[in-house]
Amino acid sequence: MNHFNYVRGSLHAEQVPLAAIAEAVGTPTYVYSTATLTRHFRVVTEAFQGTPHLICYSVKANSTLAVLHLFAKEGGGFDIVSGGELARVQRAGGSPGKTVFAGVGKTPEEMEQALAAGILMFNVESAEELEALDAVGRKVGRRAPFALRVNPDVDARTHRYISTGLKTSKFGVPFEEAVALYARSRKMKGLSAVGLDCHIGSQLTQAAPMKVAISKVAGLYRSLKEQGYPLSYLDIGGGLGITYSDETPPSPAEYARTVLKAVEDTGSTLILEPGRALVGNAGVLLTRVLYRKRTPTKTFVVVDVGMNDLIRPALYEAHHALQPVVKRRGKPVEVDVVGPVCESSDVLARARALVLPQQDDLYAVMSAGAYGMSMSSTYNSRPRSAEVLVDGAAWRVIRERETVEDLWRGERA
Ligand code: LLP
Repeated sequence: MNHFNYVRGSLHAEQVPLAAIAEAVGTPTYVYSTATLTRHFRVVTEAFQGTPHLICYSVKANSTLAVLHLFAKEGGGFDIVSGGELARVQRAGGSPGKTVFAGVGKTPEEMEQALAAGILMFNVESAEELEALDAVGRKVGRRAPFALRVNPDVDARTHRYISTGLKTSKFGVPFEEAVALYARSRKMKGLSAVGLDCHIGSQLTQAAPMKVAISKVAGLYRSLKEQGYPLSYLDIGGGLGITYSDETPPSPAEYARTVLKAVEDTGSTLILEPGRALVGNAGVLLTRVLYRKRTPTKTFVVVDVGMNDLIRPALYEAHHALQPVVKRRGKPVEVDVVGPVCESSDVLARARALVLPQQDDLYAVMSAGAYGMSMSSTYNSRPRSAEVLVDGAAWRVIRERETVEDLWRGERA
């Protein structure tokens, strides 16, 4: 459910016509809906009501300060993967005490920064990282709270680039090695075992692999508790998918049922790390048609959004629906919608049926709230997009469009 709807043929974000935003701010521009962001957070919260839990929004999905601030206000925690993300959380008013830190390559400096900030726990992904964290803990004179991220070796049945729970993946420690590592940690004075963690992948659309993975990890959690480890947190990662076109992912309620069944009797506080499910369908990317071009084999529509602004189609062949900001009558024709970046992979939509737009027509690239702006770059020296947050009939710029001076900030000719 989102709040992007047509009113008399004109696409609105809540009560604001997207055309008005494009007119005022230009394109490309990301536009987010406060009502959708808030609703998604609350729906997940309600689904887990009655179970001790903490929603740690996965910052990588969309790390813009205003978005983080909104989830902090809702009482959310955060899932981070770098010192930079921690700094963003703090800048946005988020609580480090509700923040978990994952990632296979945390540096000792990042560990120290996070320990000093008082984060909830480190999700440790290798034996050597465990030793490094112990060293940091001893240096600072504090036990670093940690969970081991275990790899349950389950196929999440999603795109191979965003599948993380297979044996062949770089993430987590092998399931079989976890017990020995917890045992080693007992002798380490800079550490304190507080939880167990897993994450099997992103854009999960089926409940079955979640069930298998979480059951397996919950079994390990129970066994560690029996062995006397004072664990409190069972972190089941993120990954709940959204509908981009015709996917039918579990609803938050179905997701909660699957999870709660799997973790029964663990007595743990659940940690959830949703990213995409909270922000994906809460954002669109506005683009303007520059040119149409017919070749002997194809019709191209050239727009001003490039793969630097939204890399998902180029990187994962991801599908994003395109909606005209103002509806146009006519018969759909098959077109390739392409961006201005000098790469053949800069295709926003391949073989898409659209009513042939006119020059200057506006389109909304739908479901662009997750992994859009946060993965954008300045490739081809294209300043990054502006971002706008709509709230009812009001809207404001939450990130200014970059200028060319921003492009060379810190450089020396
Ligand atoms: N927790 C961990 C440890 C993760 O690695 C991730 C995502 C999440 C939580 C949040 O997953 P979500 O709920 O958003 O599925 N750039 C890709 C997705 C990469 C996901 C990386 N890890 C995309 O655009 O599809």
